[in-house]
Amino acid sequence: MSYLPSPEEKAAYVNRMFAEIAPRYDLMNRLMTGGQDVAWRRELVGLCDLPAQGSLLDVGTGTGDIAKEALRQQPGITAIGCDFTFEMMRVGQGTGERIRNTQYAIRNPHFTQGDALHLPFPDDAFDAVTSGFLLRNVTDLDAALREQVRVTKPGGRVICLETAPPSQVLLGPAVRFYMFRVLPVLGKLISPRGSAYQYLPNSTRTFPEPDVVVLKMERAGLKNVFYRRKMLGTVAIHVGTA
Ligand SMILES: C[S@@+](CC[C@H](N)C(=O)[O-])C[C@H]1O[C@@H](n2cnc3c(N)ncnc32)[C@H](O)[C@@H]1O
Repeated sequence: MSYLPSPEEKAAYVNRMFAEIAPRYDLMNRLMTGGQDVAWRRELVGLCDLPAQGSLLDVGTGTGDIAKEALRQQPGITAIGCDFTFEMMRVGQGTGERIRNTQYAIRNPHFTQGDALHLPFPDDAFDAVTSGFLLRNVTDLDAALREQVRVTKPGGRVICLETAPPSQVLLGPAVRFYMFRVLPVLGKLISPRGSAYQYLPNSTRTFPEPDVVVLKMERAGLKNVFYRRKMLGTVAIHVGTA
């Protein structure tokens, strides 16, 4: 059965859901995307155009994969991951420790609890602000984008990795079958809370088309906005300059 919370209950639902699936979130991501998500995050960080000692904020950071990738690519930067689900960041911190204790010398980002709609940072604070699969989860997309622009330095970049609705893509029926039939079953096997993976395709279906996201980013104050489609058009990376 499909599930989509009402706007009133969405933030609490999303917070609870990610707290519950946190221990399996990374594994589920790898399986759902066939490992492609790693390459998207790598590409996203490359698009940040960060100076060597720059600063990056990753909003809705979850287990911190984007911030960790940024530190891997540019060890001299400061990277902060912000999320309202403590449990996701706790898992991310654990992963960082494990990584650090093996052959890879990777620093953990700084994790901070905060709401994407009221970021706990001053204006013009970061060289780049990123988000991965956050925007379809927020209750007010325009407000979330405005917040990201507010905390970005003039000339800095705002970059969003997000799913795109499957309606107009190549192989639409096959993609829809995968999202609405295969994903929930896979989700049930991996995560005790299978409904989380029914919420995922439904939240994707109701998220705006990439061209509409461009308009929203421009309305939030960004210039030179463009996007790249990934995975048969079901994922898009949007880039704008503050
Ligand atoms: C699908 S996960 C993405 C995690 C990570 N960015 C990635 O690329 O895998 C979405 C994350 O956004 C967080 N989130 C959703 N709404 C939020 C909000 N209003 N403020 C802060 N974090 C939020 C959730 O807690 C969750 O960790």
